[in-house]
Parts: sequence; C-alpha cells; structure tokens
Amino acid sequence: MDLISYIDSRQEDHLNELKELLRIPSVSAKSEHKGDIERAARWVAEKLRAAGLENVEIQPTKLHPVVCGESLHAPGKPTVLLYGHYDVQPAEPLDLWTSPAFEPAVRDGNLYARGSVDDKGQVHVHLKALEALRNTSGKLPINVKVMIEGEEEVGSLNLWEFLRQNRERLRADALVVSDTAMLGKGVPSITYGLRGLNYYQLEITGPAQDLHSGVFGGAVPNPITILSETIAKLHDRNFRVAIPGFYDDVAALSREERKTLNSLPWKEKDFRKTVGAPALCGEKGFTIIEQLWTRPTLEVNGIWGGYTGEGAKTVIPSKAYAKLSTRLVPNQDPAKIAKLVERHTHKLLPKTVMHKFEVLSTGKPWVAPYTHPIFQKAIHALEKGFGKKAVFIREGGSIPLVTQIHDMFKIPCVLLGFGLPDENAHAPDEHIALENYFSGIKSVALFYEQLATL
Ligand code: BES
Ligand code: MN
Ligand code: MN
Repeated sequence: MDLISYIDSRQEDHLNELKELLRIPSVSAKSEHKGDIERAARWVAEKLRAAGLENVEIQPTKLHPVVCGESLHAPGKPTVLLYGHYDVQPAEPLDLWTSPAFEPAVRDGNLYARGSVDDKGQVHVHLKALEALRNTSGKLPINVKVMIEGEEEVGSLNLWEFLRQNRERLRADALVVSDTAMLGKGVPSITYGLRGLNYYQLEITGPAQDLHSGVFGGAVPNPITILSETIAKLHDRNFRVAIPGFYDDVAALSREERKTLNSLPWKEKDFRKTVGAPALCGEKGFTIIEQLWTRPTLEVNGIWGGYTGEGAKTVIPSKAYAKLSTRLVPNQDPAKIAKLVERHTHKLLPKTVMHKFEVLSTGKPWVAPYTHPIFQKAIHALEKGFGKKAVFIREGGSIPLVTQIHDMFKIPCVLLGFGLPDENAHAPDEHIALENYFSGIKSVALFYEQLATL
C-alpha cells in the first residue's frame, strides 16, 4: 500500500491511540502528577519502539524525564532531531470545560482534551508518520533522533544541561518541531521566529501583619494599592513598556520582511473574534502582526493579596503579589532585560513598603532565515499533505529549547505547526482540528520521505 492510502486507512486507530495519551494527566507543574508524568513518558517510549526506533530510553533529569530514541539506518541520508513535549498545562478552571479535560471527546470535527494541540496531538502526528513510513517501505528513509521532554510547560529548566551532556548523541542536520500553530484554517505554516520569555514574581510587604482597616486605614500603606500603582506605571498611553532601555536592543524589521509579514493571508476579523474583547490595544505604530511577532511586551499574568473570599472582610493586607512576564524579541538579552525590569520596579516603589523581586525563568528569542533547501522540502510536503498553499510565519509564543538547540548546533530548525490560534491552548476546551491532525501525519510522512533526496 502507498504511504498516503496507508495513513488514510488508519485514521480511526490513530485517533483512538492519541486518546490513550490524552487520558494521562501529565501536568508538569504539579508534583501530585509525578506518577502521571512517568506514565506518559512510558507511553511515548512504547510508541517510539512500535514505530521502529531503537535505543529508546526514559532518561531522568532533576525534574521530569526525557524520552529519547533513534533510527540510524540510512547511511548518507540526513539526520533529523525531532523535539516535542508530553507534559501539559494544568487543566484548571475545570468547571469551564464542556467535557472533562482528561476524557478526550470529538465534537464538530475537533478533538477536545488538555494536550490535544499542545503538544501531545502534534507529537503523535510524528510518531504515526514515522510508523507509516516504516510499515509501508520496511525502513525509514532518513536517520531520526527523537527527544520528547516532560517539562516544557514549566520552562525546560533541566533540558539545557541534558542537551550539553548528550551533545554528540543528539547532533543532527536539522531540528524538527511541531509545537506551534498555523496562520489560520487552511493555511499550513512554517514558523521561523519565536519570542523569548522572562518570568518574574514580585512580593510587596507593607504592615508587618494584616491590620483592621477601620482602626488603621488612612495612616498606613496598603500594599495592594501600591502594587497596582506600580503596575500601572509600567506602560505609557501608547501601550509601550515604560522601562528605560527596554527597547534599546530590539532589532528593526527590514522593509522586505515587514511587507512579507503584513501581506500574509491573515484575517484581522478572525483575530478579533478569537480575542472576544470589545476593542484591541497594542503598541502604537505597529500592525497587529508586528505587535504579536516582532515587538516585545510586558504582561501581568496574575495579581493577588488581601481578602478575596465570600462577603466582606475589612482588612489592610500585609502583602500583595504579582506575576509578570516579558516576551522578548531579537536582539534583546534576557539577563539584561531582567535587570532593567528589576531596577525599574525598585525605583518606582515608595519607601513605605518592602519588596522582593524574583526571576523565575528566562528564555531567549529566536529568529532564523529559511533559505536552507530543507525549507522547500517542508513547504512542498505541507502543500501536498494539506492540498493548500503553505506560508512562512513568526509566532509570539516561546519554546525555550528551540533557541538552545539552534545556538548549540547551528542547524536549520523546521517548525511545522498543526494547531490553530483559536484552539484554546492553555485554556479550557483545548482542542485540535482532526483535519489538521490527519493532514499533519501525511505532511510529516511526505516531508521525511522527501528529505532522503535533500
Ligand atoms: N507550544 C507552546 C509555544 C507556542 C504556542 C509557540 C503557540 C507558538 C505558538 C509552548 O508549549 C508554550 O506554551 N510555551 C510557553 C513558554 C514556556 C517557558 C512555559 C509560552 O509560550 O508561554
Ligand atoms: Mn507546546
Ligand atoms: Mn504550552
């Protein structure tokens, strides 16, 4: 049987198998899921073996294990390193899911479950593509090394060390990743740029303990008010980050790239609909595409303190907290930006409170040319697999390991994304369009097949 008919004939099996993986709540952020993380790692290892990979191992790290495997029986042919993650974000708030997060369900051509698009579904696309190649031609047309990790959603902190220790074993001619989205429905896409991410936590302390707001209110500092005032000063009225030096190293877009990005088949109407806010706001002077993919930002991800329970409690809290993050673009240096953010918050805060500023994680931005011939192979494979024209895009999200692998091996990184922007990654009712999942398997199988003639 030929490759495409083989894949088409197995849709139901593929879907049922993916559902098994989606039933495992491998939430990397919560220690109570340690057992599930291990179960998911074992599941991935087993499927790698079933796809014909060898030396499949579950390698421990300081946090969650990495699943590795390889098939090196195509002498003279290229070697690709496949990277993805089997861990998922927490499913909360649970009551907002239409069907339970870890009970996969198909509705209207979509598969709903935590991890369906980010990233289990997309990892599975590759496992099934490899299996199809092996089962239709007896062996793989290229050499493949695989590394599926379990802590991407918490920043891949231990993976840098893992890369360094396994440098020779992981060396390849190209990196292949499916952990991004398509520009839109019917537009298969290759991502050539990601933003970096720094994550911070700020703790403000006013009074030494909580105080009665009637007895003390009016004479003492309220840390929530002060935190709010401070946060409000982090942007100006043009939605620019008001931290001195923040934009100093931001690379300007070439006129050519600007033109190319702004003429992509991207629909502002769809974007507005996905966002669902009454109006948009973003840095003045840039199109939405430019704001999302090429400009740095500072976001408040969470803010808490004081009384938030039922009814009223008259209290001046001792502490207030915020989680902040900055998305970074070339050529910003994460360490330098972290210092600027810390120094500026320190400067903004009045003497009436104490504070603690922590950098929880940092990650570099990534952008690379797509001139290597492998990108033409990828475009052709996507166009054949989807029957649609494919495009090159950048993305606003971050995948720390992509930058690190690119820095370490200086190899082309091919990011084939099969998600859609409105598929609720990290949110309730996460899903993947079955159409893209199935077309993804075909595209990836064709891509690997065509790499033999690179
Ligand atoms: N798959 C995403 C990254 C992504 C999503 C890239 C959509 C492009 C488009 C990844 O799992 C993720 O969520 N990354 C985190 C960073 C990480 C350090 C927690 C992110 O971007 O917030
Ligand atoms: Mn992901
Ligand atoms: Mn994610």
